[in-house]
Amino acid sequence: MEKEKKVLFSGMQATGNLTLGNYLGALKNWVTLSDEYECYYSVVDMHSITVRQDPAVLRKRARALLTLYIAAGIDPEKNCIYYQSHVSGHAELAWILNCFTYMGELNRMTQFKDKASKHADNINAGLFTYPVLMAADILLYQADVVPVGIDQMQHLELTRDIAQRFNAIYGDVFTVPEAYIGKVGAKIMSLQDPTRKMSKSDENPNASIYLMDDPDTIRRKCKRAVTDSEAQILYRPEQPGVKNLLDIYCACTNKTPEEAVREFDGCGYGQLKEAVGEAVVGVLSPLQQRVRELEKDKAYIDGVIKMNAEKAAYTANKTLRKVQKKVGFPERIR
Ligand code: TYM
Repeated sequence: MEKEKKVLFSGMQATGNLTLGNYLGALKNWVTLSDEYECYYSVVDMHSITVRQDPAVLRKRARALLTLYIAAGIDPEKNCIYYQSHVSGHAELAWILNCFTYMGELNRMTQFKDKASKHADNINAGLFTYPVLMAADILLYQADVVPVGIDQMQHLELTRDIAQRFNAIYGDVFTVPEAYIGKVGAKIMSLQDPTRKMSKSDENPNASIYLMDDPDTIRRKCKRAVTDSEAQILYRPEQPGVKNLLDIYCACTNKTPEEAVREFDGCGYGQLKEAVGEAVVGVLSPLQQRVRELEKDKAYIDGVIKMNAEKAAYTANKTLRKVQKKVGFPERIR
């Protein structure tokens, strides 16, 4: 049967303080795409425990992230916003897909290598099979499209390979998903080292703008951003610091890099940094205000969590039962 609307799936980890990179690379596009697709937006708390977490902090951050999805403009009546851990199908499908994924494929994942080097005292099997759980997330909902930042591309390629491998053996079981990468903002770089991505886990707080930073902090971080000595505002890879500031500016103002370069013609870096700071404040301040208002309405958020977990589980179970049957698990007796 033809699906009425194409399906979109994406998720974010409730680990650390979310950065402007998470917002501009992912969340902002989620909002734009939410009318066009049937959307599932998950708070991927199961992925979070691949790194040690304080349970109380994780619970709090997971709820804050779910609230942020709504505050950003995703309507929970029309879209399914839920916690990954509330739908057991994610873990069940991940186990099956583990049996269709090769060690060699997982060994090549750059995020695994990176995280393993950062957490050398805890290189657990979950960290290694993390991309398989991500594939299960996506394939459970038969997603057509997955909006992510560039750093998740390798995981998405693996998801496609697993889906195609499974389909080649058992017939058309999974939709093979496509990545959706935004035109600007797909890779926001560190403000202190523009050759590295802006990351929640950066030890230097000046490297990242956090979504809940106050306006003065945002302005100060922009002012301190590393640029170069070229003294010209052009959008080109030879000037990664300036390019990153222009990317942030464009993603916040919905302008193109060409428009921005024209606008800053003849300006100094100080003026550019000031304009970027104001553009970011203009986006984040109203978002923070909505988060604070929503946080007060406990009953509303609780209602969203309950209703959407049921909806997600219903869809997930349909795929899961089909997959279980295909691989030969005995039928349930009712
Ligand atoms: P996570 O939680 O690290 O990041 C969430 C989203 O933010 C994007 N992102 C960025 N985009 C641009 N510039 C940056 N500096 C930047 N930093 C992060 C990420 O690309 C991502 O889209 N494994 C995923 C979560 C996940 C998932 C999924 C995503 C689990 N299951 C299924 C999509 C579909 C992750 O750790 O993202």
